[in-house]
Amino acid sequence: MKYSAILALGSALSVNAAALAKRTAVVGSAEGFASGTTGGGSAACATPSSVAQLTTWLTDSTARCIVLDKEYSYLTTEGTTTETGCRPASNTCGSSGQDAINHASWCDNGNAGTGSTSISVTYDTAGTSGIVMGSNKSLIGVGSKGVIRGKGLRIANGAKNIIIQNIHITELNPQYIWGGDAIAVDGADQVWIDHCKFSLIGRQMFVAGTGASNRVTLSYNEFDGATSWSATCDNRHYWAIYLTGSSDLITMKGNYVHHTSGRSPKIGGNSLVHAVNNYFYSNSGHAFDNGAGGMVVAEGNVFQNVDTPLLENLGSFFGSPSTSANSVCSTNMGHTCQVNTFGSSGTLGGTDTSFLTNFSGKTVATASAASSSISSSAGVGKI
Ligand SMILES: *[C@@H]1O[C@H](CO)[C@@H](O)[C@H](O)[C@H]1NC(C)=O
Ligand SMILES: *[C@@H]1O[C@H](CO)[C@@H](O)[C@H](O)[C@H]1NC(C)=O
Repeated sequence: MKYSAILALGSALSVNAAALAKRTAVVGSAEGFASGTTGGGSAACATPSSVAQLTTWLTDSTARCIVLDKEYSYLTTEGTTTETGCRPASNTCGSSGQDAINHASWCDNGNAGTGSTSISVTYDTAGTSGIVMGSNKSLIGVGSKGVIRGKGLRIANGAKNIIIQNIHITELNPQYIWGGDAIAVDGADQVWIDHCKFSLIGRQMFVAGTGASNRVTLSYNEFDGATSWSATCDNRHYWAIYLTGSSDLITMKGNYVHHTSGRSPKIGGNSLVHAVNNYFYSNSGHAFDNGAGGMVVAEGNVFQNVDTPLLENLGSFFGSPSTSANSVCSTNMGHTCQVNTFGSSGTLGGTDTSFLTNFSGKTVATASAASSSISSSAGVGKI
């Protein structure tokens, strides 16, 4: 080989090595409430060789950077379960609706509605419980290849300092209510979920509650509700995002929430939610449902084809109604709130500002003008 060719090869190799290194490290840092989250910190990044090793690395108490460059399928790893569940009253469309597992007697305690019937259900057992994560973890995907199929993640019991970036969680018994949650947080602090995708999930794509989950940022994720088993019988997922922790600060920035029909998100407990620059698209039911104890600032969001942007407000809700009204945000949030935009959608409302003092002294995400272009930068394979 000529010397010049060797030189060219050498530089090509070093470019590839640099690109690889870039893809196998956390990109950027958390905006908003979970700022300062370091995950696995300086731990060397490594790729688990199997589903079993992935489980070990996620659950142990060692600080880790875990890189997924392929799909890890938990389907059938815990067998299947056949038992009595129900067809709830909401399922008026049979096989294209969502039936239910009788989790916590849900089918028997009135939640399934008048006219619900018992049926036999068969589901993949792994989907119904999440992998219980230890503290100090970064879990990151390479390109759009990092997929966890058939099981979700649970961050609870005081687990802290966790980054999940560029991971697609999918296929948690989507045909069944209670089929599984993609990410469940219940008693945690400093959780940053970034550029992830959630699809074909039985229950919640993200849930925080009922313990205190403290500082959480959900940024640039894709919540893809398209499904063949819809609780509202219209190919859209009802159970998207549920935020009812007892002391939670949640930043939702830059997320693309589409083809859902409810709970996008539902809020309650004692939760301060800053929903900024998200894009809510094609929602046949409601986006926000603000229960008692929910405190929400919604600014700079796009609502496109969203039937009901705010279902009910039993808590406190500031919907950033006009540029003049929005200057009230400055004192505690450090910026004038951005107006939301609406296309073929209902109205948002919400003029309560009494709770804005809750933002005082916190790290608050910045806001840009509302834009639907977020749909091309949210989700996996975009960083
Ligand atoms: C996580 O990291 C912090 C800072 O290094 C350390 O103090 C803490 O003990 C770690 N937690 C666990 C469970 O290892
Ligand atoms: C909001 O502020 C009130 C009054 O200080 C406090 O009781 C409540 O815990 C705060 N909630 C959150 C989520 O910060």
